[in-house]
Amino acid sequence: MQKLAISRYTINNQRFDGKIKYALVSDLHSGKKTDIEPIIKALKDNSPDCILMPGDIFERLDGSRPEGKTAGYELIKRAAEIAPVYYSIGNHENGGTGSWNMIKWRKSFFIEKYFEQSELDKIFNCGATFLDDGFVIEDGIAYGGLTSGLINKERKPHVDWLDEFCKLECPKVLLCHHPEYYKKYLKGKNIDLIVAGHAHGGQWRIFGRGVFAPGQGIFPKYTSGVHDGRLVISRGLKPSGKIPRIFNTPEIVFIEINNS
Ligand SMILES: [Fe+2]
Repeated sequence: MQKLAISRYTINNQRFDGKIKYALVSDLHSGKKTDIEPIIKALKDNSPDCILMPGDIFERLDGSRPEGKTAGYELIKRAAEIAPVYYSIGNHENGGTGSWNMIKWRKSFFIEKYFEQSELDKIFNCGATFLDDGFVIEDGIAYGGLTSGLINKERKPHVDWLDEFCKLECPKVLLCHHPEYYKKYLKGKNIDLIVAGHAHGGQWRIFGRGVFAPGQGIFPKYTSGVHDGRLVISRGLKPSGKIPRIFNTPEIVFIEINNS
């Protein structure tokens, strides 16, 4: 069974009505050998009220990589049996196109956001609430999903809808795959909790710090932990692949919101 680190953070925020526990499940990058059992066990053992999946659960949803999808759908389905699941889109749902901004020739391979409706239907059918640059309000809390800008033609996130989201009076939780968007697009916004992944903890961790993350470069700031008391970053669930993880065990995060 795959080794899994469990991180727990407590955030105090009086705008929430009582305690709530979130699980942050990110960057599974579902492949042929993906083992979801440790994740399901951690979810069952920790009984979250809600499960937040801010993207990169899959590698491609456009129908071209069918071999790795089973574990991703199975994870969503079984997670949704434990607690409500909210799902937003990372850059790898579209195959990771555009991840490497500095390599110009990759632009010639760029594919604008495109998903097979049948694949999206499967996510719905697994029981997840799908958030694609939009939000829903459930039990007095607004859940928004900021889709990866790397799958938009202009390679930037569509943030216009956030104005309406931020004006809501209820507590607001934003799923945002890219932690590097925090500084540029989200820092000044009225959002109570932001959850992210993408950086995979910086892939190699030295003295508790990540070494590299796409979109942030060498020794990135946003790879793990809690920032400004409201941005929580998962180091992701994908085990070592072609590039090994060093001192960086795949991670599931539990966030307890305390209103005291
Ligand atoms: Fe990503």
